[in-house]
Amino acid sequence: MLSEQDPDESFASSGPLITWTETERKTNPNVNTPKVGTNAFSLACRRQPAGHTPVWLMRQAGRYQPEYRELRSKVGFLELCHSPELAAQVTIDAANWLDTDAAILFADILLILEPMGFDLAFVKGDGPAIYNPVRAAEDLDRVRGEGVADALSYVYEAVRLIRRDLPAHRDLIGFAGAPFTLACYAIEGGGSRHYDKAKAFMYRNPEAFDALMGKLTSATVEYLNAQIRAGADAIQLFDSWVGNLSLRDYRRFVQPHMKTLFEGLLPGPVTIHFGTDTGHLLEAQRDAGGDVIGLDWRADLDQCWARLGDSVAVQGNLDPVLLLGPWDEIERQTRIILDQAAGRPGHIFNLGHGILPSTPPDNVRRLVDFVHEATRS
Ligand code: CP3
Repeated sequence: MLSEQDPDESFASSGPLITWTETERKTNPNVNTPKVGTNAFSLACRRQPAGHTPVWLMRQAGRYQPEYRELRSKVGFLELCHSPELAAQVTIDAANWLDTDAAILFADILLILEPMGFDLAFVKGDGPAIYNPVRAAEDLDRVRGEGVADALSYVYEAVRLIRRDLPAHRDLIGFAGAPFTLACYAIEGGGSRHYDKAKAFMYRNPEAFDALMGKLTSATVEYLNAQIRAGADAIQLFDSWVGNLSLRDYRRFVQPHMKTLFEGLLPGPVTIHFGTDTGHLLEAQRDAGGDVIGLDWRADLDQCWARLGDSVAVQGNLDPVLLLGPWDEIERQTRIILDQAAGRPGHIFNLGHGILPSTPPDNVRRLVDFVHEATRS
């Protein structure tokens, strides 16, 4: 986790809350010599000149690709996530085909809920389902927060395979869901429009909600540190649904856990703090942690960056629906975003949220080429 220009300096001053165990210090070479990436993507995340604006796209591996759909006709989604060789292949193929500056590990934010004691399934057409959600304070007793990460070794194996076979100039992004977004699924039992069950639980049982957030935070720190040890160059935290909260509630229920989470990560990889509908939360998210703040498409990048200040890089912020076309409009709006970033070091081009399944693949590839060509110095 690097938050300053000078990596050595930031390592020395990375806050009092870091509590690596002695074993971790002895077994993890990164603790003493943090791996500091020098690819365009990692440089931009640290707000250093990168030669061009690096680009990758959320959900760059997925159903918009005929090859992915073909594979999925034979293998279930969870089975695919559980198979390191297949997950590695899907990750690498998408990054190579698109020529993105970074690959993102093929996995899902909800996988961590399985070893925590949740019964998870992906139901065709309906998205994720959790059959034993948390609905009362007593349900917390059956949620595991410690020793969870060992059960996710298939993810670390995928990270190792990807880092072995991915061309060296592409960085590998590991990731996890942020505690609030995971808590939403754990309480709702699936997706939701207003996250009303999750928020009502939070208001009615603030202590139990805090305990759930604490368990999710400690499990996620273990999980991400294992991804870092396996070779992830960057870590993204997906707080996809946090924009549902007021700033007041974010500060009270979420921000302390996000701070603990970022401060618990092993040093070295750059960190990205992503959410959607977060126009009212940006400064609070920045204060919680992350070298890079994710911006969705709702607000202008230059105004958000001015609010955030010089201490962070920004990632975003094209509307994923634009990729349905036409190309002229995609190009026009991409140029607006690049103009707003104005070549300042510290912009990672991305969509404001994931690629939609109905997206024409050629538009995606053309976008990556366009960003590279338009920004190469
Ligand atoms: O290329 C990549 O971006 C990496 C892989 C990735 C997936 N999920 C694969 C996936 C990543 C980073 C995620 C994160 C994820 N998963 C988030 C956070 C990002 C976001 O979209 O806000 C969330 C909220 C989830 C939970 C989830 N997983 C949902 C709601 C769904 C169903 C909705 C949908 O898009 O189908 C999934 C399934 C999922 N995760 C798919 C993929 C490729 C589609 C599954 C399929 O092949 O049928």
